[in-house]
Amino acid sequence: AGKWVRMVTAQTPTNIAVIKYWGKRDEALILPVNDSISVTLDPAHLCTTTTVAVSPSFDQDRMWLNGKEISLAGGRFQSCLREIRSRACDVEDEEKGIKIAKKDWENLHLHIASYNNFPTAAGLASSAAGFACLVFALAKLMNAKEDQSQLSAIARQGSGSACRSLYGGFVKWIMGKDEDGRDSLAVQLADEKHWDDLVIIIAVVSSRQKETSSTSGMRETVETSLLLKHRAKEIVPKRIVQMEEAIKNRDFASFAQLTCTDSNQFHAVCLDTSPPIFYMNDTSHRIISVVEKWNRSEGVPQVAYTFDAGPNAVMIARDRKAASLLLQRLLFHFPPNADTDLNSYIIGDKSILQ
Ligand code: PMV
Repeated sequence: AGKWVRMVTAQTPTNIAVIKYWGKRDEALILPVNDSISVTLDPAHLCTTTTVAVSPSFDQDRMWLNGKEISLAGGRFQSCLREIRSRACDVEDEEKGIKIAKKDWENLHLHIASYNNFPTAAGLASSAAGFACLVFALAKLMNAKEDQSQLSAIARQGSGSACRSLYGGFVKWIMGKDEDGRDSLAVQLADEKHWDDLVIIIAVVSSRQKETSSTSGMRETVETSLLLKHRAKEIVPKRIVQMEEAIKNRDFASFAQLTCTDSNQFHAVCLDTSPPIFYMNDTSHRIISVVEKWNRSEGVPQVAYTFDAGPNAVMIARDRKAASLLLQRLLFHFPPNADTDLNSYIIGDKSILQ
């Protein structure tokens, strides 16, 4: 006894919202002011790999992110660890001779190692993949018998957007009504095969860390923006219905229109915050212009764009042909390492480069 180690490794992709979550009605539990919808990205590109280990020889919980030890003291890590620990069950691994009883989990410590295959500081929703992966791996390690949706409600307490990374394809985070947050969870709208013509291209406009964290940004917006109240109550509920319909019918024109308008409204709400929050920069704005002009000249939209709490552009092309034309245009207008601060592209589907 005392020598064994039990380990579980999981891999989780990040997700990008096409109807945005911005604003919490409960900050501690991370309950949002509106529903949101996202696309989970291809795990080959933006994903987190996390190994969780338990052993009687560990004397405290510890975590390493990209090889560097980080503190687990934050309330969000503690919430996720507490929730999963409380659901831990008996574990028996005959091969390794490991037997852990339900009650043992209270006294056992964990070591957690997490890697992102993309720059953590680039503002590319690393916390979404990170917390989803952590919760999923811990649930497996501790044999917690919860379904994906229930796990999503736990990942939500790490980072709101993380709840949507428990599923692939198109995912909806239902805001829920309960005060305890039990019904604020993610459901899958369609799996990854449903609309596999789509190709995602990300322009890494800046790899600098964002100036306003999403937590403090949301807080300021909730406190000061009248536009957010209107958005959450009147606009988003209708858009959610329309977006679900567009996804179901693979209606790219509606999908693109809703995605772009919703991204722009999210940034308008940031601008409506006092003091105003600027996440996009000149390069982001120029990318929007290039895409808008192209879509208009084609008559039917070829590409949707969306921006999170940073200047990087996530573009969703209707098919491979549109993606390769988009890439040509982007490389023409924004050659990497020129005077713009745009430094690289991440292509959702390798084959379009061949
Ligand atoms: O989950 P957070 O706190 O990182 O917030 C994410 C907020 C946005 O990315 C801007 C929108 C979204 O729905 O993911």
